[in-house]
Amino acid sequence: MASISWCCLFCLFLAVFVAQVGFCSSSKVYVVYMGGKSGDDPDDVLSQNHHMLASVHGGSVEEAQASHLYSYRHGFEGFAAKLTDEQASQIAKMPGVVSVFPNLKRKLHTTHSWDFMGLVGEETMEIPGHSTKNQVNVIIGFIDTGIWPESPSFSDADMPPVPPRWRGKCQLGEAFNASSCNRKVIGARYYMSGYEAEEDSSRIMSFRSPRDSSGHGSHTASIAAGRYVTNMNYKGLAAGGARGGAPMARIAVYKTCWESGCYDVDLLAAFDDAIRDGVHILSVSLGPDAPQGDYFNDAISIGSFHAASRGVLVVASVGNAGTRGSATNLAPWMMTVGASSMDRDFASDIVLGNATKFMGESLSLSEMNASARIIYASEAHAGYFTPYQSSYCLDSSLNVTKARGKVLVCRHAESSSESKLAKSKIVKEAGGVGMVLIDEADKDVAIPFAIPSAVVGREMGRKILSYINNTRKPMSKISRAKTVLGSQPAPRIASFSSKGPNSLTPEILKPDVAAPGLNILAAWSPADGKMQFNILSGTSMSCPHITGVATLIKAVHPSWSPSAIKSAIMTTGKFLPTF
Ligand SMILES: *[C@@H]1O[C@H](CO)[C@@H](O)[C@H](O)[C@H]1NC(C)=O
Ligand SMILES: *[C@@H]1O[C@H](CO)[C@@H](O)[C@H](O)[C@H]1NC(C)=O
Ligand SMILES: *[C@@H]1O[C@H](CO)[C@@H](O)[C@H](O)[C@H]1NC(C)=O
Ligand SMILES: *[C@@H]1O[C@H](CO)[C@@H](O)[C@H](O)[C@H]1NC(C)=O
Ligand SMILES: *[C@@H]1O[C@H](CO)[C@@H](O)[C@H](O)[C@H]1NC(C)=O
Repeated sequence: MASISWCCLFCLFLAVFVAQVGFCSSSKVYVVYMGGKSGDDPDDVLSQNHHMLASVHGGSVEEAQASHLYSYRHGFEGFAAKLTDEQASQIAKMPGVVSVFPNLKRKLHTTHSWDFMGLVGEETMEIPGHSTKNQVNVIIGFIDTGIWPESPSFSDADMPPVPPRWRGKCQLGEAFNASSCNRKVIGARYYMSGYEAEEDSSRIMSFRSPRDSSGHGSHTASIAAGRYVTNMNYKGLAAGGARGGAPMARIAVYKTCWESGCYDVDLLAAFDDAIRDGVHILSVSLGPDAPQGDYFNDAISIGSFHAASRGVLVVASVGNAGTRGSATNLAPWMMTVGASSMDRDFASDIVLGNATKFMGESLSLSEMNASARIIYASEAHAGYFTPYQSSYCLDSSLNVTKARGKVLVCRHAESSSESKLAKSKIVKEAGGVGMVLIDEADKDVAIPFAIPSAVVGREMGRKILSYINNTRKPMSKISRAKTVLGSQPAPRIASFSSKGPNSLTPEILKPDVAAPGLNILAAWSPADGKMQFNILSGTSMSCPHITGVATLIKAVHPSWSPSAIKSAIMTTGKFLPTF
């Protein structure tokens, strides 16, 4: 009976001297993973979990219960609990325990999301001739930030009753009542114990319910399964209707991601419930930082393994790190998706004083009414900043006297975490009227800049600088962004899309497929920026495109296994026109 561990004895000893009670006994949240289901009654599993916990809490059932966060007992077995390192290693040695690992945080796979706030957009969507007949029987689970159920993308108009297969529920909570679920959003749950245990609990968590405050979950769900919505357009940037890949499929919401990310113990609880609830496909637009841990210590690998073995296809995003070997969600039983471009761009014209016109990526909706002087930002360096530093248009690096009324050519370092949107604000504050941003890496990601602006690549940037250098009075004018269809070459792999090789199992290639993930318009949460729709980029957006395709296949071939669906997509994959 190791009722008082050495650690705690040491603690008592320390407490006497430095009055630091609780120094060693600080506990962390761990996942105790116990493999596949034993077939025991779920209630017995719970008491077994408590029993195991009590044995490391000196036999105290109360302490065991207080430390317990979740029991996993539907799709697989295990539990989550607050443990000291000592208790965790004791449990790891117990029979039946496969692995014990700490509750790590995972991140949503949207690129530089701060760059994308503040814009409503639109895209014209072609409707291919898919029969929607059996889609109503396919249930897609989204492990994400929740949903904005009132969005027209999630209307249940003309949908038949919920399929009898469905065993999930509509969990009520803040701003989420029974009528928030319908025949489209047939179920919704939320998980926050793991997040609350790790993050500063005084921070307000918005919508303690399945309601989406960030927009990400509504965006991904509508890409895969949004209803057809007419008249999505924003100040003429584009006009038309939009829909998801499988607009008649059912949506089940598993909200596990909060303000700063998603924790393992919450993710596992979502997988466990989704397997029992009867989803056919799970869409997971999030993942670990690269390099990812091995399969036995990664909640998404474990959860998706048991999902796949119960016939649930798990589609996941590969990540946005962009570099070689940075691919995540590597398990062979998942379908892992990289991001590509489409033949559609959002671009602004940059017209130089010598009448040459260049086109750069942009979502800015204001335009210059007249030509203005164009200078390299290094010429407007201020104070202690060197011209080189100022060429990156860093905060307070620009001299207002020199920048006022001008178009500035700024740089963006490759793999920099600086916000491009922020650079347009810095130029604006310095009195600039426009910005040309030279970005060698990510020139394709369209951004709703604060002033007329456009992102160009290295080659175009060199031409513009050479024009400035060789012209006595260089001038330029930047137009508002417009939709450009038929842009070539398309598709290309987006520069931010994480790449192989597979760092855990090199003989298995990852990602499995690529799908559009650049500048995707879909539903949004009005809680963020008061917008119904937004344009985002990331493998977060490409993942639900494949979820939508998989749903169409499942509708036509209900008996196909996850591997059969994955194989069908991988062996027939070619460029998919936008839905
Ligand atoms: C549920 O919430 C909606 C909107 O938040 C509200 O209009 C409706 O009256 C509520 N229904 C019930 C039964 O409370
Ligand atoms: C261009 O003119 C329009 C209409 O006169 C005005 O609303 C807009 O603010 C002007 N744009 C700039 C950048 O000055
Ligand atoms: C900005 O440029 C003006 C004119 O060249 C100069 O007089 C002033 O000192 C500069 N200000 C700063 C903060 O560098
Ligand atoms: C233009 O001139 C700047 C310095 O004035 C120099 O750094 C840059 O390399 C030149 N660029 C081109 C394309 O000539
Ligand atoms: C204008 O300047 C650009 C950049 O230097 C150059 O590529 C282009 O040929 C010039 N156009 C004319 C008409 O001189």
